[in-house]
Amino acid sequence: MYQSQRIYLPFGDRTLTLGLKPLAIADWIEIDDQFVSYLQRKTELLKTNHSEVFASLPNTQIAQQEVLDLLLEHLSQQVPELYDRTSKTITVKATNQTWNIDQFEPLDLAGRLVQEDFCLMQPSDRGFILATASLCFPLRWRLLAKLGNPMMRIHQPVPDYSEQLGNPVDRLFDRLKVDRPVFRLNWSIVETPELYLGHQSHSSTNAVELTPDDLWIRVERQTLRRLAQSGWILFTIRTYRYPLMLLNDYPDSAIALSSIVQDLAPEMQLYKNLLPIREMLLTALEQILKRS
Ligand code: HEM
Repeated sequence: MYQSQRIYLPFGDRTLTLGLKPLAIADWIEIDDQFVSYLQRKTELLKTNHSEVFASLPNTQIAQQEVLDLLLEHLSQQVPELYDRTSKTITVKATNQTWNIDQFEPLDLAGRLVQEDFCLMQPSDRGFILATASLCFPLRWRLLAKLGNPMMRIHQPVPDYSEQLGNPVDRLFDRLKVDRPVFRLNWSIVETPELYLGHQSHSSTNAVELTPDDLWIRVERQTLRRLAQSGWILFTIRTYRYPLMLLNDYPDSAIALSSIVQDLAPEMQLYKNLLPIREMLLTALEQILKRS
């Protein structure tokens, strides 16, 4: 019934580029055979850790509702068999969860329906600011630390972002067209398949205890689209994770990852938490290539 997990191995692109590609609206949301486990993990996090994974500024309800309406319309066109709707409720059939539409803020409800995380960006005199998010699967960042901040500030820990990406990203946000959404892919190597990495970092892990079987490729498929009515921008993050050993089947990607890791600027290696695992990773990639 579900399509198997898509494989994205974006090691060819340089790291600090916009790396944007046009997105067909029909491909906006990606549902796969991990649907149930992602939604169940979201439900747990939203129950036990709500303020960490959902947050909104005041006066965001209209734009939040615009996102929910857009999503419901999209799902009813693309995958109507997955949901049941009444005027007051929406049921996710696969998880047997029925949500009351009035029970949640609209973006909170949107996040419970699909595997994507949602970040809603509001125009302001400081540029676009992060105004509301349902963010169950962050990669080592905390929503509350970023809420209300503009793009430059949000990206402050990313080396060279302000010099190389800051202005192009701001221009993109100003010019993004409603009917021309875009997507980009971002990769990391992490030491756990856990989807919620709000506080984790390699520095808290003793790399000596790890083996290559503990390493996971984590890819974010990020989309950006402008909302037609409000003019706000919606950023979605769809997180994928694959065991590093998947690269046994993709030797070209093993070569590409190895050369990107070797060429990455030291500050970027530090930022991406690669330093404690770098040697083990490169050795594992070499072995994969010898076997291929
Ligand atoms: C075209 C748009 C964007 C570009 C080119 C971009 C670029 C980047 C890059 C290169 C990184 C470093 C990732 C890595 O190598 O591991 C990053 C991290 C991040 N981005 Fe973006 N980004 C974009 C949009 C957004 C938006 C809309 C948000 C809104 C929430 C966002 C939030 C973040 C956060 C929270 C981080 C982690 C920062 C940290 O470590 O504290 N990005 N981004």
